[in-house]
Amino acid sequence: MKSTANIKGHPIHPILVGFPIAFFTATLLFDAVALFYKNNTFWLMGKYMVIAGIISAIVTAIPGLIDYFFTVPPKSSAKKRGAQHGILNTTMLILFVVAYFIRQQQISFSLIIFEFVGFVTMIIAGWLGGTLVYRNQIGVDPRYANAGKWKEAHINQSGNEVEVAEIAELEINQMKLLHINNERIVLGRTESGYVAFNDRCSHKGGSLAGGAMICGTVQCPWHGSQFDCSTGVVKAGPAKDGIDVYGIIEKDGKVYLRLAR
Ligand code: FES
Repeated sequence: MKSTANIKGHPIHPILVGFPIAFFTATLLFDAVALFYKNNTFWLMGKYMVIAGIISAIVTAIPGLIDYFFTVPPKSSAKKRGAQHGILNTTMLILFVVAYFIRQQQISFSLIIFEFVGFVTMIIAGWLGGTLVYRNQIGVDPRYANAGKWKEAHINQSGNEVEVAEIAELEINQMKLLHINNERIVLGRTESGYVAFNDRCSHKGGSLAGGAMICGTVQCPWHGSQFDCSTGVVKAGPAKDGIDVYGIIEKDGKVYLRLAR
């Protein structure tokens, strides 16, 4: 069993996005002024800005890709939104790279149009990125009272019963995200013992491990649906369907999860 700590997204990505946004916006403004006033200094500044924008966009894409593959919950609305965000950013980057080569010829109105389309694409991608951060909480580490340190474990074991924790590992109301043979399962400790349930919220796929668990009820961090941790039934919407739960065995100081439901 391999345990890792706090890999709930990379806040570095939302911090870095400010750089390409600033550089590409400056590119458009400097080039527009250069065209209007026939000013070579602004034209040169526009060139430096587009180079800085391209480099910073590539650097920013790295943590974004890591978040997309390793943090955004699979089969969720955020996964779709993340894909759209990535496609738009790639399109925007291509537009500014092409604009950089166009500008080697001479200052022209068509270049400004090209950059403006790239700018609008960047704004739409940025809006989607903001939604991923603030609504889907990618790169955010929301905590509730006594949530404890974020825990996550990757387990590759065959058989029906899988050892998933030491009994003393979690305190009451704490959760741990398990990746067992490509399934995401949440292990939680309630007042009446350990529970295990599917990590995927039945509404739009939010990760329940990133939510809050109190008094045997887990609440999804995205839109607040609540589920009974022992039975999986919905206690509050918008989710309409319950979630799968798993059997737990506590023996010899260890916690075992039954994979067959
Ligand atoms: S994804 Fe909407 S409540 Fe969970």
